[in-house]
Amino acid sequence: MEKNIVLIGFMGTGKTTVSKKLSEMLDIKEIDVDAYIVEREQKSINDIFKEQGEEGFRDIETASLDEIKNEKGIISCGGGAVLRDKNVEILKTNGKIVLLTATPQTIYERVKDDDSRPLLKGNMNVDHIKMLMDRRKDRYIEVADVVIETDNKDVDEIAAEIIEYMGNNS
Ligand code: S3P
Repeated sequence: MEKNIVLIGFMGTGKTTVSKKLSEMLDIKEIDVDAYIVEREQKSINDIFKEQGEEGFRDIETASLDEIKNEKGIISCGGGAVLRDKNVEILKTNGKIVLLTATPQTIYERVKDDDSRPLLKGNMNVDHIKMLMDRRKDRYIEVADVVIETDNKDVDEIAAEIIEYMGNNS
């Protein structure tokens, strides 16, 4: 595969699960940007948000994307990574941007028992998820090279769709 597979999308659309699956199937490296950040900062995402706010986290995210920009493989981004133009520019230089989508209800079911996401803390409900998603929807679509819906699909189906797309387009 010539280009990196860059997975983007709202929290809970399955980026981490799908990237692990793709990594196994294609035998290529997977880089989870959030995990990279946690390792780099030696702090949880929650603690980074608490201590440095969302902007502080976004600065670390941009610096991290810049550090990994020459890596080859599957890049799994945090849900807000493509909000900054600079980040999209970095990701587009050697990758195809694959957007994973899901309905707010599906997302809620997937993330409701996980308290590792500061933007959902104290607001773990479908309405809040929908509100955040509505704010980002257009941006996600605008930067994506391809959109893959994940509702009612298992990880194998999703991975197969992505591999097929990359086979035809990379
Ligand atoms: C965020 C998504 C999270 C993480 C951070 C902010 C966002 O990643 O980067 O909590 O702004 O949507 P996941 O999409 O992997 O949950």
